[in-house]
Order: sequence, then structure tokens, then C-alpha cells
Amino acid sequence: MWWHARGEPPSWEVTAPPAAEGFGPVRCVVRTIVAHPQGFMENVIDTGHFTPIHRLGVRMVEEPRFDGPRMTSAYRLTRVGGKKNPLFSSSAPVMRATVQGLGVFIAETTVPAVGMEMRAWFCVVPLDPVRIELRPAVAVRFAGVRHRGTARALAALVPGPLAWFSTFETNRDLPIWAHNTYLEHPRLAQGDGPITKYRRWARQFYSDWPSGRQPARRPA
Ligand SMILES: [Fe+2]
Repeated sequence: MWWHARGEPPSWEVTAPPAAEGFGPVRCVVRTIVAHPQGFMENVIDTGHFTPIHRLGVRMVEEPRFDGPRMTSAYRLTRVGGKKNPLFSSSAPVMRATVQGLGVFIAETTVPAVGMEMRAWFCVVPLDPVRIELRPAVAVRFAGVRHRGTARALAALVPGPLAWFSTFETNRDLPIWAHNTYLEHPRLAQGDGPITKYRRWARQFYSDWPSGRQPARRPA
């Protein structure tokens, strides 16, 4: 969905990952949550919140790159504390993140321990100044599983639990998005990620308001 404050035509298009065989059906859910599109996408590079909120350790594999309407990054995720989980072992997985505008985040994750590749889309549409419609969608393939029938069955079954897991993790962010206040010049702590670079990049998706006044975002 493209929308421009002055009704101008699209200046760029969303790029989908290249087609790849073996991916099972896409599991998609639709949620309405209290968050701002910029705040939601900032979540992707706000590496400082991964450990306290999601109990994930992050090791940067590729520093965030800002290129036109896209931001890309890659990092390795490891579980902090709790039971060992092959999805978060030290040998896996690397997640490649591509954010396009403030509306599409694509996460491509390879989990060698179980021979799985996952593609997750998080599509965001603003409903009003404080709410967004979020559509997370997940598809997987098991290129590491030799038996085709088994690989197909797994690709059909696994997105359900993964979609639930994604919803569960997003729920951890909800209280923050519901109560945070946008500060033009936030005081950053070490490990917060390139928040300033991200916000500078995000400015391209806003129009100047004729009166020079921006609409109120959220009451402080
Ligand atoms: Fe988060």
C-alpha cells in the first residue's frame, strides 16, 4: 500500500526476496496494536533491547546499511539463559533483516542445526496516530531434509508454531510501544544500536507540513 500526504505517485517499489523452491504455505495473522510504524521498525536495529526484553544475545554480522528506502543488517541470535534451544544455539542462526520504508520488514533466517530456512514478513499499515495494523507472515523450507515428503510436511506444519512464537515475542514489546514518548534527541546508552542514523534515514518518509507544524504524535 502506497500513500503520500500530497498524493504523489510511488517513488520506489517493495522488493521481494528471490523466488525459491521448497517453501511451504505462508502463515499470516493480522493484529491491531498500539505502536508507530517508525517505532516498530526501530525495534529491528535497537539491539540494546534484545537481551532485557527478548532474552536474546546479538552478535552483529553485518553493520546496518542505509541505502535509499532500504535498511539492511545481519546478526546472529543466541538465547540468553533458560533451556538450550537449537534455534538459538551458538552455531545458529543468522538473521538477515531488510527494512523497506517504514512498512515492510523481511527477516530471512537460516537455522543449520535443523536444516531450516525461514522467511518472515512484517507488514505495517498506520491506522491512526497511535495504532498500526501488523501482518506477520511466515514461510519455511527444509532444504536440509532429504526426504521430500517429510520436508513438505514440516514446511506446512512449522509456520504455525513460528507465527505463535513471533506473536509471543511481539507481545513483549507492546508495553514499551504503548507508553513510550518520541524524543527528538534521545539520550542513548552503549549498545543501543545506530538509532540516530536510523532516524535520519527515516525522515525521507515524511512530508513537510504546509504550516511547518507536525501533528501531535502521542501525548507525553
Ligand atoms: Fe522487540
